[in-house]
Amino acid sequence: MAKRILSGIQPTSDSFHLGNYLGALKQWVELQEGNDAFYCIVDLHALTGEIDPALLRKRILSSAAQLIALGISPEKSTLFVQSHVAEHNQLGWIMECIAGFGEANRMTQFKDKSAKGGADSARVGLFTYPMLQAADILLYQAHYVPVGEDQRQHIELTRDLATRFNTRFGETFRIPEGYILKSGAKIYDLQEPTNKMSKSSGSAAGVLEIMDTPEANAKKIKSATTDAGREVKFDEKEKPGISNLLTIHSALSGKKISDLENEFAGKGYGDFKGAVAEVVVDYLKPIRTRALELLEDESHLVQILHAGADKARTVASATVAESYKNLGLVL
Ligand code: TYM
Repeated sequence: MAKRILSGIQPTSDSFHLGNYLGALKQWVELQEGNDAFYCIVDLHALTGEIDPALLRKRILSSAAQLIALGISPEKSTLFVQSHVAEHNQLGWIMECIAGFGEANRMTQFKDKSAKGGADSARVGLFTYPMLQAADILLYQAHYVPVGEDQRQHIELTRDLATRFNTRFGETFRIPEGYILKSGAKIYDLQEPTNKMSKSSGSAAGVLEIMDTPEANAKKIKSATTDAGREVKFDEKEKPGISNLLTIHSALSGKKISDLENEFAGKGYGDFKGAVAEVVVDYLKPIRTRALELLEDESHLVQILHAGADKARTVASATVAESYKNLGLVL
């Protein structure tokens, strides 16, 4: 049976990185087959950090171009921008009124992000961010939410809020499940392979970006941090750098990690890194080229996003009406 799928990504950098792709976006593409998928560029969430209007606009459009280039089909799935569907704010407020301050305060992403700039200067919107995310998901009555490991706690909160609402005010929301892979749900920084690959990473050298030139990505892989040994073996504790490269190769080439270990037995790290660079470059090159082509026609991209928003709004407004009715608001 076709399942309802919902996921989102922030337009907070010029390019998505390989962690976004392997942790989430690759599954977005797979799940659009035979399902009813809604994919959202969460621009309102992006307002919780530094806002540069010209850059934000550029990044929203670039996000749309990259998503289409990497395989999200506007015919098969509903691709839209969060701010085009006002229901996200409407249900976001309801979720803020359902969530407890204590449970919101336990969100580790808020703690991490607010700690970086000093807790006092963190925005209120950064604190209420997970309630808006819960609304994103619940509006579409999603069965599955394909995300990386770092979103697990937000999905748990969403489930808790939906269950609480349903128990108190009557069946309104489907309880969603995270769709989180066993391998690839956390891709690590190439320079610091015990930290996740992240847009806000200290050094760009550890982050493989879809929109980077093939040469730049090959160079980053060749200078990735490894350990002092020689053996290409998956061992996350002792060899985090090599294990991360094995995960990346395997996810993109479709080869099993054990087969890769055999293939590179007796060869050095240099040969292995060369092979990883080739796989990554071959994979990302056509995506980048296609995204750059799509960016040449902005109005076409905007048209696709508006059409997606129209479809999304139909589903979202029905959920808001139902939740308002169950809360006792007069419709
Ligand atoms: P965001 O924009 O930070 O990341 C988008 C997706 O990429 C995944 N991801 C990773 N996966 C594996 N390894 C990594 N190093 C890595 N880095 C990022 C994330 O887990 C995510 O799936 N809060 C969300 C956006 C959001 C959302 C939603 C997601 C808003 N509303 C509703 C799902 C449903 C976020 O900041 O993702």
